[in-house]
Amino acid sequence: PLTTTGELVTRSAAARSAVASFNVITLEHVEAVIAGAESVHAPVVLQVSENAVKFRGGQLLPLARAAVAAAERATVPVALHLDHVQSDALLYQAAEAGFSSVMYDAARLPYAQNLATTRAAVDWAHAEGLWIEAELGQIGGKNGRPPLDAHAPGARTDPEEARVFVADSGVDALAVAIGSAHAMTTRTATLDHALLKRLSAALDVPLVLHGSSGVPDDELTAAVAGGIAKVNIGTALNIALTGAIRDFLAERPEAVDPRGYLTVAREAMTRAVARALRTLGPATA
Ligand code: G3H
Ligand code: ZN
Repeated sequence: PLTTTGELVTRSAAARSAVASFNVITLEHVEAVIAGAESVHAPVVLQVSENAVKFRGGQLLPLARAAVAAAERATVPVALHLDHVQSDALLYQAAEAGFSSVMYDAARLPYAQNLATTRAAVDWAHAEGLWIEAELGQIGGKNGRPPLDAHAPGARTDPEEARVFVADSGVDALAVAIGSAHAMTTRTATLDHALLKRLSAALDVPLVLHGSSGVPDDELTAAVAGGIAKVNIGTALNIALTGAIRDFLAERPEAVDPRGYLTVAREAMTRAVARALRTLGPATA
């Protein structure tokens, strides 16, 4: 059934576990995330990023409606989250489209502007009944240059600045920069666990890890033990999807029916989802 991100993250934070939030681009991503979650009986968050909406010609509703329909008939709790939102016009569509939460991304802005725009987004979100996450200490790699990005993976969130930011903005959760970076295709990130400990002690909201595809299993479980309550995973699914299609077509260069390669792609993503959920710990659905 459809549930809310706030409910899942609150429950995870209380249990010192983490809910996985997977980025979906196509209908096959949606189906794979739900099938993977059902296979291990775990609740899950489906997230649609502003970039994914741009890929769909700026239209949120086609994918959102499919995701809502799939979530409603799922046998595990599924929440919908709008990810890395920079556009207010998109933010304003969230509740109507069936999303219970948003991540408002103003981390690229100087601190004062990040705070001011985030606070305005929080006011809107809370009036709409939405749970809202923001980011402080820019987690790099969103521009397709993970190891070369000026902010990744070296950016760090300062605990004292974060404490003030959370108090002044009123956000429900904070994405922190502790060594991960977006769009990594190797699992080689090293997290700053000492910093995570300080952030966890300084903040009374759940913490979110972005760029989790590049984080090895042992680092991930340590991060969850250290206070990460929501783990965002995108690229790992795309590695599975693209690899499966590449192999399928290499073996069958004459293939034209997309259902052949989309089937193996969806199965590969389903396995990637189940694998990540098992790493994150005991099922709580
Ligand atoms: O918000 C989305 C996540 O941070 C995904 O990052 O694609 O590197 O796993 P990733
Ligand atoms: Zn992210």
